[in-house]
Amino acid sequence: METINQKQQGKALSRLEGALKVTGAAQYAGEYSAPDLLYGHVVNSTIPKGKIQKIYTEEILKLPGIIEIFTHENRPSLAWFNFQYSDMDAPPGSPFRPLHDAEIKYYGQPVALVVAESFEEARFAASVLKIDYEKEAFTTNFTNQLDDARAPKRGFATLLKPLPPKPKGDFDKAFDESPVQVSADDYYHGTEHHNPMEMHATTTMFEGEGKLTIYDKTQGTVNSQLYVANVFGLSFKDVRVIAPYVGGAFGSGLQPQYQLFMSVMAALELKRSVRVTLTRAQMYTFGHRPPTLQQIKVAAEMDGKITALHHKATAETSRFEDYTEVVVNWGNILYPVENTKLDYELVPVDVYSPLDMRAPGGSTGLHPLECALDELAYELKMDPLDLRLKNYAEQDDSENRPFSSKELKECYLQGAEKFGWYNRSPQPRSMRRGNRLVGYGMATGIWESMTLPAKAEATLTKEGKFRVRSAVTDIGTGTLTVMTQIAADALGVGLDEVEFEYGDSKMPFAPIQGGSYTVSTVGSAVVAACQALRKRLLKIAQKANGSLFETASESKVSLTNGHLSLSEKPDVAVSFQELLTVSGKRMIKASKTNIPNPLTLKKYTRAAHSAAFVEVEVDEELGVINVTRALTAVAAGTIVNPKTARSQIVGGMVWGISKALREETITDHRLGRYMNPNLAEYHIPVHADIHDLDVIFVEEKDDIVNPLGSKGLGEIGIVALPPAIANAVFHATGKRIHQLPIHFDMLL
Ligand code: MOS
Repeated sequence: METINQKQQGKALSRLEGALKVTGAAQYAGEYSAPDLLYGHVVNSTIPKGKIQKIYTEEILKLPGIIEIFTHENRPSLAWFNFQYSDMDAPPGSPFRPLHDAEIKYYGQPVALVVAESFEEARFAASVLKIDYEKEAFTTNFTNQLDDARAPKRGFATLLKPLPPKPKGDFDKAFDESPVQVSADDYYHGTEHHNPMEMHATTTMFEGEGKLTIYDKTQGTVNSQLYVANVFGLSFKDVRVIAPYVGGAFGSGLQPQYQLFMSVMAALELKRSVRVTLTRAQMYTFGHRPPTLQQIKVAAEMDGKITALHHKATAETSRFEDYTEVVVNWGNILYPVENTKLDYELVPVDVYSPLDMRAPGGSTGLHPLECALDELAYELKMDPLDLRLKNYAEQDDSENRPFSSKELKECYLQGAEKFGWYNRSPQPRSMRRGNRLVGYGMATGIWESMTLPAKAEATLTKEGKFRVRSAVTDIGTGTLTVMTQIAADALGVGLDEVEFEYGDSKMPFAPIQGGSYTVSTVGSAVVAACQALRKRLLKIAQKANGSLFETASESKVSLTNGHLSLSEKPDVAVSFQELLTVSGKRMIKASKTNIPNPLTLKKYTRAAHSAAFVEVEVDEELGVINVTRALTAVAAGTIVNPKTARSQIVGGMVWGISKALREETITDHRLGRYMNPNLAEYHIPVHADIHDLDVIFVEEKDDIVNPLGSKGLGEIGIVALPPAIANAVFHATGKRIHQLPIHFDMLL
């Protein structure tokens, strides 16, 4: 593929839809309306396990405005109940089917949908619907069930989530014989729930028998479309899913959630348009980052060379699906170690299946690894950064293959320089400001760079403008802006000449937005489609004026001022209008699917890297921890838009601070339920918690990952922050806390 002239890429553009979002003009899934719109409110189970005995719907149906109450007893017998459809991102197992039968599998399971003429009527009726249950014994505490731990099952979605590599060398012997050892078996983080600003919502427009237009809060319009068509036995072309704006998702929208099922079911049965919006508390009734217990053992020679690594993670899953993430694989990609043992196990309990949450696995697994390296550095009396440089991986030892590119060393050096890392006095409790102890900590970050197949379409419109389309969503990452930049460069036109349309399942296929692969995946398809359109336009120009354009090639033409011309002889030109006339069509279109070559990609480990440096202040009497400064240096290939890119990293860093110090869903295991399903008690950082955050993008050239050379930024920002903070807390206080979140009482 020809190298494209990058003029718009590299510009720090603000989000093109920013004004629409901050003025409230952008419409979200739960804001679409129809004249006859009905409102559904979900009722959730109040026991964690057992059976529904009776649902007292009769009295409630008499309440004003109530149209219908759907339960397992009167739900339509749909195609879906004959087979278990798994969506594009479903873990192996049996996907949860709302209203399938009387069985209760977890606390908060949706058990009824009350549909009314108004939201208030539906919500009130749902709040007074009485249900009798037969309770059964349950357990929600996986740390009490470690005897049940077992290897995860594999499935389609887990193709992207490799199992831990086989053991290498002789870990036990190497560990025992090494002079310096670090060992801990109590690294733990609790359950975390998704709290995007926009809660999950679906508005289904009933467009006639079997025909639906659905506004869904989702990361994948096509994934939701396939789900609805398969579950309800509808024709694929009759189901259109639209999601132009998504108010944050970060994994919660990778899979269709139950509000989609409920809204579609009600619309099909009642032949009316139906909106179902979940409450903040209901956001805690599907999926979460699984609590995970980890053990780590690392040993080294006196010079700091790491000789042995054992990393084991045991995570919670549900009884019906094996949710899997990549937790323990990172250590031997980051560090060359000859003797490794990497284990990953699951324990099923009576909860809903866990769900991807920003950097699933990576943000979990780097925590013990990078804290253990810090401990090792102290044992060795070595600087923690020097220890990482000593064990710098020139290739991926776990797969025995080169990196497609890796500028991590530059991240370490530029990050340390700008942060002032070496001003640190190594002794714990040796730095202070007044009554506050000051600590510096650092950690390494890594996240894989994937590219998936995707299709895009590029069009010269009858107005002489360009339009590029993909079904991809923009979950707030800046996809619209970045794709517009990529399209403009691929066409060789200005930003004003091209419009990017997206967020509609009718448009060319794109996978769910996630895994930090959207720029790479959809961007590559956009480049391919734009180049295909340039070729097509040139062909038409040759038809229109053969002699002038005969010898021209696609890379030698310009599309400026409404004309296709020769780059070197701009006066040799044909107008867009003439091209349209000659083509005999109202518009000239080209579409292209980009399929990454697995044989090429297989030869390389492709990953973004980062180095995070953190300063904390800890109040000596109160134990209160404040992240006063944090810097992340990132190597992620080409940065298409430095502004939206920085925003991704800063967002990840804020979430990293949250993971380290704030957020956790608390379960009362006697009741089997989450106790803090609200933003008052589920703590996330507020502005007062966030201080000086800095981002460096180091230069990194990568010709392997994709034609753009971009690696993805959605997840690399979070992964290194929790261990860097834990290490800074140790440096400040002399205390190693292996649990997240770290709370002040653990330091007293
Ligand atoms: Mo991300 S957890 O793939 O939204």
